[in-house]
Amino acid sequence: MSSAADELEPVEVAIILGSGFSRIAERIGSPAVIPFEDIEDFPSLRRSVLGHAGRLVVGTLGGRRVAAFQGRLHGYQGYSAFEVAAPVRVAASLGAKVLLVTNAAGAVSADIAPGEIVLLSDQLNLTCGNPLVDQEALSLTPQFVSMREAFDPELRTIALQSAVDADVAMRSEGVYAGLLGPSYETAAEVRMLRTLGADVVGMSTVHEVIAARAHGLRVLGLSLVTNAAAGEGLSHADVLEMGRANAVRAETLVLAILQRLSGTL
Ligand code: HPA
Repeated sequence: MSSAADELEPVEVAIILGSGFSRIAERIGSPAVIPFEDIEDFPSLRRSVLGHAGRLVVGTLGGRRVAAFQGRLHGYQGYSAFEVAAPVRVAASLGAKVLLVTNAAGAVSADIAPGEIVLLSDQLNLTCGNPLVDQEALSLTPQFVSMREAFDPELRTIALQSAVDADVAMRSEGVYAGLLGPSYETAAEVRMLRTLGADVVGMSTVHEVIAARAHGLRVLGLSLVTNAAAGEGLSHADVLEMGRANAVRAETLVLAILQRLSGTL
């Protein structure tokens, strides 16, 4: 880690903030802000993607010590799966016990509408990559890692209760399919994903979740649905705009979850 990050107090929860969730970092109290470029364990940064800030904010949120990653690394930017999981290794080294991973996603299931927030219950890693395939990973984590109940059942129950507390509508389960991108899916691919049992689709998350389980972190996942997958006229700008339009609900929900997490960490 960078010398700046080395000096940080331990955290309880790490949050990776996808489009729509990113503003939450501005609510963090007594923040220490570290640009990704200054974190030694991050890969040298390539082209960043519009809408992803690229900084780590450590401080207090919802009564918990948190490390929030504003922005993330994606396979479609040319990073390896191991590199994509760099925030998880930083989170583990800061002592995080829980990873809350958030993203913007397309709806695969016909009964999920744009604007919905989905609590992830499982994932399909369809990227053909894995963050544990790396010489360095071998020295950091076990090579073979169980992915059974990767999204922690107890934490999911807490998230469901938090959504009720906060009066934020949240779909209680959904399977996230992670693809490499950056092209969006064809209509045929969306039909394939439905057949495979996916509910939402995106270009992130799956490697972070695998790395988190390898490091022993408990995982919660939230998708903000920004569009119908293979929807008409889909653009990155629309995805970001839909994220912005739903940011308040997403923020309220994350705060409620953090508040309810006490006692389980
Ligand atoms: N497909 C893949 N990734 C996405 C989508 C989508 O429809 N929407 C937001 N991220």
